[in-house]
Amino acid sequence: MKPTTKTMSRRAFVGVSAAALASLALGGCAQTPVEEPTPAPEPEPEPQTPANDVAPETTTEPTLAPAQGAAVIAVFSRTGNTLALAEAIQTRTNFDLVRIEPAAPFPDDYDEMLTVGQRERDEDARPALADSVSSLADYDTVYLGFPVWWGHIPQIIRTLADRGDLAGKTIAPFCTSGSSSISTSVADLRELCPDATVLEGLTVTESGLSTRDTRAEEWLASLGL
Ligand SMILES: Cc1cc2nc3c(=O)[nH]c(=O)nc-3n(C[C@H](O)[C@H](O)[C@H](O)COP(=O)(O)O)c2cc1C
Repeated sequence: MKPTTKTMSRRAFVGVSAAALASLALGGCAQTPVEEPTPAPEPEPEPQTPANDVAPETTTEPTLAPAQGAAVIAVFSRTGNTLALAEAIQTRTNFDLVRIEPAAPFPDDYDEMLTVGQRERDEDARPALADSVSSLADYDTVYLGFPVWWGHIPQIIRTLADRGDLAGKTIAPFCTSGSSSISTSVADLRELCPDATVLEGLTVTESGLSTRDTRAEEWLASLGL
């Protein structure tokens, strides 16, 4: 699978934030308040706490290698940034990679995309998944990637959760963004999937995307999975 990396410019993100602010001013947003219009400073890397300190079960049975299908990388990426980060993770883990794609592709035009994204958020929409999006049922751990949209997880991640794909899983979230941290999205996931274990997330900003290999490596090591 070939990534199509088209990096959204900081100017574009400022446009996002301005559009979000305008929407709020019009009283159209019934959701959690949108991010400040001025992008926050480059977020510090998330605290690297050991995420899963459950001791491996000991057994007298012959020890088998971990099942190949136990973990999966599931990624939604509209313009390729988060996909590039997902591929850096895949290179280091060799896990399967599943693309989370909408049934109706998002517009290429940036302004149209803002309109669609804002409407989905205002309506707490659940954009339909493409039929090709494989079930994650066979996996215990999901490395879940998405861009930060309006400070939060994109609505299509909520569709995936509604389908039951994240229930009871260990979720290791990672994102790309213009500047926002993943922290609000981690909170979204914990609320959305109360029976899942949501680990510390990884944020890589667009301007820091060239460091994704190192960032992915450090984050994977910190998870202790
Ligand atoms: C609808 C929309 C909303 C966005 N909201 C934010 C935001 O709140 N904070 C931020 O830092 N970046 C925001 N961005 C920028 C994206 O998170 C950033 O460009 C990301 O790297 C895109 O990832 P992708 O190429 O995988 O789609 C937004 C972009 C779009 C299209």
